[in-house]
Amino acid sequence: MTPPDYEYLRKLLRDHSGLDLSADKQYLIESRLLPLSRKSGLSGISELVQKMKGGSTAITTQVVEAMTTNETFFFRDKLPFDHFRDSIMPEILQARASRRSIRIWCAAGSTGQEPYSLAMCLKEMSAAIAGWRIEILATDLSQEVLEKSKAGIYSQFEVQRGLPIQMLVKYFKQTGELWQINADIRAMIQHRQLNLLHDFSQLGVFDVIFCRNVLIYFDQDTKINIFNRLAKASEPDGFLVLGAAETVVGLTDAFRPYPERRGLYRPNNARAIPTRIPAVGAVAPKLAAMAGR
Ligand SMILES: C[S@@+](CC[C@H](N)C(=O)[O-])C[C@H]1O[C@@H](n2cnc3c(N)ncnc32)[C@H](O)[C@@H]1O
Repeated sequence: MTPPDYEYLRKLLRDHSGLDLSADKQYLIESRLLPLSRKSGLSGISELVQKMKGGSTAITTQVVEAMTTNETFFFRDKLPFDHFRDSIMPEILQARASRRSIRIWCAAGSTGQEPYSLAMCLKEMSAAIAGWRIEILATDLSQEVLEKSKAGIYSQFEVQRGLPIQMLVKYFKQTGELWQINADIRAMIQHRQLNLLHDFSQLGVFDVIFCRNVLIYFDQDTKINIFNRLAKASEPDGFLVLGAAETVVGLTDAFRPYPERRGLYRPNNARAIPTRIPAVGAVAPKLAAMAGR
């Protein structure tokens, strides 16, 4: 790969997915893009770059998707799901007792193991949430991983990673060598393609946001920008869950760490209150509700 091709790809990936590659990641690009160029009948990375420069959006999408890391597994890191069951849900069930509805967003849900882990946690607390409306939205940049997530079909290897055997037996059906998560769990998840670099205000406001193991690939300014927009997409008393190697600390005061719960954050309310204040009559009930929380 020539240095200009590498620089072109670095910039393209930063602009399209946020992926921030250092100057020495040629091997990574080659290992991911040489198979793609072969599959597309092209002679190599230079020809791939020529196609993109010529305006081929199909190739650009494939390049961006090929460069994303989709690694995930059921109940990854365990702790976030313990927090969900033991800290987040009890607090939310109390805070939303009159509304009886909860919105959860998996902001980089990959092939579905993370949103389905949350759905299984909720199934395990069926009695406490009977009659509640619970929405789980799984989004990802990559259409390919979303298709796999929607199907909910996993290999033996994938179900052996992190998933307790009792849950496999209870919530999956085996077909040959594959396992499909049951239809009632699949129906708990809505899927939508979404690039975190783009505006997501149309999704509305969530009680819980899982945004794990994706910001780690982005540069500092991009992380700060996304944290600040996630704070706006979070209820003032909502929760943000990050990956084990991610933090808001030192980057933004839009969120603050939840004491003694690693990886768990809450919005700083002052930042979450809209800056454009509507007419007094309209805002008073909202502020009163916030103050009561
Ligand atoms: C390493 S996986 C993490 C999956 C899951 N959250 C977990 O922790 O197991 C990262 C996911 O982020 C997605 N992704 C990468 N860039 C993105 C972007 N700009 N917007 C939305 N999703 C993105 C990738 O497609 C990939 O599925």
